[in-house]
Parts: sequence; structure tokens; C-alpha cells
Amino acid sequence: MSDSYPIVIRRHADMRQRILASQAAGERVGFVPTMGSLHAGHASLAQRAAADCTAVAVSIFVNPTQFGPHEDFDRYPRDLDADCQVLAQHGVRWVFAPEVTEMYPAHHATRVVVGGPAEPFEGQLRPGHFAGVATVVCRLFQAVPADAAYFGAKDWQQSLVIKQMVHDLALPIEVLVCPTVRESDGLALSSRNAYLSSAERHRATALAAALKQAEQDWLRGASIPDIEQAMATRLTAASITVDYAAVVAADTLMPLSPADQTTPAIALVAGQIGTTRLIDNLPLPPRTLPSC
Ligand code: PAF
Repeated sequence: MSDSYPIVIRRHADMRQRILASQAAGERVGFVPTMGSLHAGHASLAQRAAADCTAVAVSIFVNPTQFGPHEDFDRYPRDLDADCQVLAQHGVRWVFAPEVTEMYPAHHATRVVVGGPAEPFEGQLRPGHFAGVATVVCRLFQAVPADAAYFGAKDWQQSLVIKQMVHDLALPIEVLVCPTVRESDGLALSSRNAYLSSAERHRATALAAALKQAEQDWLRGASIPDIEQAMATRLTAASITVDYAAVVAADTLMPLSPADQTTPAIALVAGQIGTTRLIDNLPLPPRTLPSC
């Protein structure tokens, strides 16, 4: 593993040319798109990319089009040098850190709008969010035409949206979704955890606890409405304003029929703690319901 500071690239054309040159020289390139404020979850993606590939690029770009008008775009933490120091420890060769005008040139007028998995949950609560994500990721894939791109499972719905876009537009990149990294008390790592006061940080553990409870209830055969209610109750008890607490099909986010024992399921939660909105999820193991 190299510990040298990555090369920071600002221009789309420069980035693209370097990736194509390294592939022409026989390298396999991995790509980790991020908005910076890197934590151990991002580091795990870079490590996985470095294990699978001979060269790794990470993008750091706080994408304005995926934030709603009252969301945290302005306060989103930005520290490129600190991020590069982290990436230097994980063998990352290039950091693509464009300005907004490089990603969204004057008079740009194109959006990538995904249906299907982009529609429920975050899609309903954050109108335009996934169009912003899909548009920027599509453009990032042009700048960084890597062989494989790595995303965290914490943003499960986002990973489905990106897979759908890659499939529908036949983009020549493999999408890999890597496990959520958690603190020892279960809290999923997120750049937004930095907004939490210590009391809120303590309450935020209810998200992971609610998901773990959902897993236990699921395995003992509880109904989906009962599991969802129990998750919501647990979050509310921690003074978390619940946006959703749901068990759905993992690959489509569609509702599951009560007797379905074959479709992989996932529990999803989202809620507001003070001024901070957090999401989390837990894929559920297969279960066998007693026949009646
Ligand atoms: O998950 C993120 O950090 C962002 O949504 C992404 C994929 C980098 C697009 O801006």
C-alpha cells in the first residue's frame, strides 16, 4: 500500500485522460465517489477498491443538486487536505475535486431522472434528490471512466438508484456495494454524525437498535406491520422524529406480501434528531414462517 499524498485533479478532461491512459497501460481502475468529510466508512471503500484494482480514484465533490433548498449544503463539512491525508493511507492515486462550474458548466440543461427504486422513501421525502445524485454520478463516471465503482450500503436506496441508472444507460462500469461501517455502539458512520450534540449522538443509537430489534422480530416470525410499528416506537422513544420505519423488498423497495419467504428483505429507517437527519438500514436474513 502506498502512503503518498494523492494527486489532486480539478479538471474533468485531465482526470479522464489519466484514467484512460492507466487502463491502456493494463491497469484496472477502481472509483469511490464521495462528498468528502471522509470517515472510516469511506476508507473501507477505498481499501476495497485498492484490494480489487491496481489504481484507485476518489472524487470529492459536495454536489449542490442533490440538496433540497432547506437542507445542509452550506454547512456540509469541507476539508480537502484532511481528506487527502486519510486517502494517502489507503493507496489512493488520484483525488478528483472539481469546482461546481466544472461539473455543471454554464447553460447545462440535462438531468438524469431515475424511476423505480428512486421513487419511494427518500424519493418522496427529498424531491429531486435522486435526480441530483444520478446526474452527478453519471457525470463523474464520464470524468472517471473506471472499471468498478464502490458505494456504501448505508445509502442502500442510492445504491439501487445507481445500479438502475448503470443498467438502463448501459454504462460500462461495475457497481459494488460494500458493508456499512458502524461505531462500537451500532451507529452507522455518516459525515452528518458530526452535527450531533453528545446527547443527540447518544439518542442516535436508537436507529441501529431499532434495526436490530426488527431483525430479531423478523426471525421469530412477527408480521411486517408489527415490526414496522416496533421500530417506529423505539425511535420515537429516543425523541427521533420518524420519517419512515419499513420492511420492504431489498432489491426493489416494493412492499412484501405477508406470505413471501423468498424475496430478500431489508429494514429501513430515517428520522430527524434535532437539526440532523439520519438514515440507516439492515438487510434481513431469510426466514421460514410456520405453515398454517
Ligand atoms: O453518497 C454520496 O456521498 C453522494 O451521494 C455521491 C454518491 C458521492 C453523489 O454526490
